[in-house]
Amino acid sequence: MTTTITLTGAGGQIGYALLFRIAAGDLLGPEERVRLRLLEIPQGLGAAEGAALELQDGAFGLLEHVEVTDDPAVGFDGADLALLVGARPRGPGMERGDLLTANAGIFGPQGAAIAAHASPDVRVTVVGNPANTNALIAAASADGVPAERFTALTRLDENRARAQLAQTLAAPVDTVRRVPIWGNHSATQFPDVSHATVGGAPVADALEAIVGDVPAWLDETFIPRVAKRGAEIIQVRGSSSVASAANATIEHVRDWVRGTDDWTSAGVVSHGEYGVPEGLISSFPVRSIDGEWQIVEGLEVSDWARARIDASVAELVEEREAVRALGML
Ligand code: NAD
Ligand code: LMR
Repeated sequence: MTTTITLTGAGGQIGYALLFRIAAGDLLGPEERVRLRLLEIPQGLGAAEGAALELQDGAFGLLEHVEVTDDPAVGFDGADLALLVGARPRGPGMERGDLLTANAGIFGPQGAAIAAHASPDVRVTVVGNPANTNALIAAASADGVPAERFTALTRLDENRARAQLAQTLAAPVDTVRRVPIWGNHSATQFPDVSHATVGGAPVADALEAIVGDVPAWLDETFIPRVAKRGAEIIQVRGSSSVASAANATIEHVRDWVRGTDDWTSAGVVSHGEYGVPEGLISSFPVRSIDGEWQIVEGLEVSDWARARIDASVAELVEEREAVRALGML
């Protein structure tokens, strides 16, 4: 079988970190051949063409064809998977929401081009920031494509949360499970340890033995560390995360296509679950079953958690109002 994958921003940093992993089979496994469509703006075409030359020199057995274009009609033609990475990154001192004016205009036309040219069962993953609201814009512009086909990446936040817990607990990271992200991929996000386990036992018990006052540690150390990790990376390395973002993108899409055996996190359209207003693209605890993300329902949400979810969702509502005011919704 062959899957057609469209990558926007293919000449950028994350694009470069993604392409070779996709060609090597990390996304869809060693049996699935891939056809790559690299969509860029004219200024980015040279870098994307250079990456295409290197893909050729990689002699990847799974890679059937690479097309580089700045025409969305060509870029999204027959796309089974669309990775919308192409957008400006933030710099030091900025919040991701500050990118709304610069980036939101990209996603309406791309949503429309997806509706017109992609495969009928296309799956779209928005990485470009502010990812949730960009996904909302793309979905709203894609007439005839169900909103469930549009997602925003919050897997990087979940990976950061699990890694911070693993470090604190001196436990292997793959033994830390069920740490969903709620809300927006922004500083208001809520990484939730209420249901988390380490080696199958509740994380809260293990944390108490190490940090003492767990609620204070969550409020003062853990949540801000995870929620501001993107800014920390920008401060330390001088530009925003690349390889970890590409890795999270691979994991998000792989799990969407191939399924999960436990919960993870993704920005998906709300149907009113957990009181999140219908239509917003919000991060939830999710499972992937038969190629569809399903929100994990029925979880107990404490008042403390509720307040944090509500704050992040309120920011999503504000972003939706802002793009409405810009005439993009
Ligand atoms: P980059 O500047 O290195 O690359 C962006 C590329 O997108 C450039 O090559 C640019 O020419 C291209 N581009 C711009 N507009 C385009 C359009 N309309 N169509 C196609 N391509 C277009 O940036 P990067 O480091 O690769 O980051 C890309 C985006 O991903 C940023 O918005 C960044 O904030 C975001 N990001 C999100 C997450 C997440 O977890 N959701 C993580 C890291 C980065
Ligand atoms: C991240 O979380 O690393 C990205 O969203 C980039 C950023 O601006 O923080």
